Amino acid sequence: MAEDLIKIEGTRQEKYDLLFPQIKNLLAGETDKYANLANIAAAIHETFGFFWVGFYLNKGQELVLGPFQGPVACTRIPFHKGVCGHAFTTQETIIVPDVDEFPGHIACASASKSEIVLPAKNANGEVILVFDLDSDQLNDFTEIDQFGLEKVIRLIEENWENWV
Ligand code: SME
Repeated sequence: MAEDLIKIEGTRQEKYDLLFPQIKNLLAGETDKYANLANIAAAIHETFGFFWVGFYLNKGQELVLGPFQGPVACTRIPFHKGVCGHAFTTQETIIVPDVDEFPGHIACASASKSEIVLPAKNANGEVILVFDLDSDQLNDFTEIDQFGLEKVIRLIEENWENWV
């Protein structure tokens, strides 16, 4: 694995394009899921400067906080609660332009203004985790983020069974 992230400048699209191969390199040869999720969160946080970037894992009864970068966050989220719960139950990516307009949004930090949450599934189609990114700007996430981040989700899904 390459421990260094090459500093990336450019548009958000260009950043996703240049970051993806670097994320692949970060994961190469490492099978510990927490180490890999931690580096994914760090690489994306470092590249885009989002307020909060992290994972909530399906622990059977609820979603539980996993590797993340940013301020301390809620540790447990019921499957049906908040934006994360919505992504979990619908099994679809959700973009929330203004979290105050989302019924049931779980406010871990008042600085969080918009967010995107993406689910990752195992081979049986069960959601194994959700990837939650929060911004301190309103309306900060678009299809560009969805497309770029869904490539990362596919990478997690492809490798999940080989990670311990
Ligand atoms: N915003 C999430 C809660 C988690 S924190 O933002 C880190 C939600 O409503 O699901």
